[in-house]
Amino acid sequence: MTSSPNAGPVVSFKEVRKVYNDDGLEVTAIKSVTFDIPSRRFAMIVGPSGSGKTTLLNLIGCIDAPTAGQLEVCGQNVGLLRDNAMTDFRSRNIAFVFQSFNLLPVLTAYENVEYPLLLLGIPAPERRKQTMAMLESVGLVDQRDHRPNQLSGGQKQRVAIARALVKKPALILADEPTANLDSRTGAEIIALMHKVQEEHSASFIFSTHDPQLMSHADEIFVIRDGELAEHRAGRPN
Ligand SMILES: Nc1ncnc2c1ncn2[C@@H]1O[C@H](COP(=O)(O)OP(=O)(O)OP(=O)(O)O)[C@@H](O)[C@H]1O
Ligand SMILES: [Mg+2]
Repeated sequence: MTSSPNAGPVVSFKEVRKVYNDDGLEVTAIKSVTFDIPSRRFAMIVGPSGSGKTTLLNLIGCIDAPTAGQLEVCGQNVGLLRDNAMTDFRSRNIAFVFQSFNLLPVLTAYENVEYPLLLLGIPAPERRKQTMAMLESVGLVDQRDHRPNQLSGGQKQRVAIARALVKKPALILADEPTANLDSRTGAEIIALMHKVQEEHSASFIFSTHDPQLMSHADEIFVIRDGELAEHRAGRPN
């Protein structure tokens, strides 16, 4: 992990702008935002549909690049990284939990969780140890041989979280992580992420519409029309 105990912000936007340009049609998704997201907290990006939440997460996750401005993630100015260095930086520091889970359908729960460790070239015995520990912490040891279509929505989300966390990333990004879950399963997933945050001191950044999830926020960033409309502290430290 790149962050130290006295880490500064995990994300720093300086006049970041994002304009999509599809076939000559320009859409300014992010106008010009300047703000920091503190590390080791539950930070939430909230706002109406189309306000730019997913765009911000994709920029933070280095899935997409800003049109202008400067973006630092885990202390790294990501605009300075080129292809391979960017991929390497992303795979070492950042994990994504997608709303649609994005599990590999032909792999079992165990293999889905193990996959990021394979990509990192971790040797087999260590991989097995870390994969089993992660399955245990999300309560899915008994379902480890199930494929995604043999799991419930909440179980799939737990596999997705286990897969995101198994490599112990400094930063976990989740786009509407509870959107497809009933409120009880959503509460279980939130509790699980809290546990992981305490165990690994990771930083979490979510986008959400879910009031239940928002009630757990340490920091709330309200985005409206591609601009930061408001920043409020949530739960006290
Ligand atoms: N690939 C793209 N090409 C062109 N425009 C895009 C693209 N992706 C997003 N947009 C536009 O950028 C703006 C912000 O979209 P974004 O997906 O970030 O919103 P959001 O806040 O995540 O919305 P939701 O809550 O519905 O998920 C919208 O006007 C959207 O239409
Ligand atoms: Mg979105």
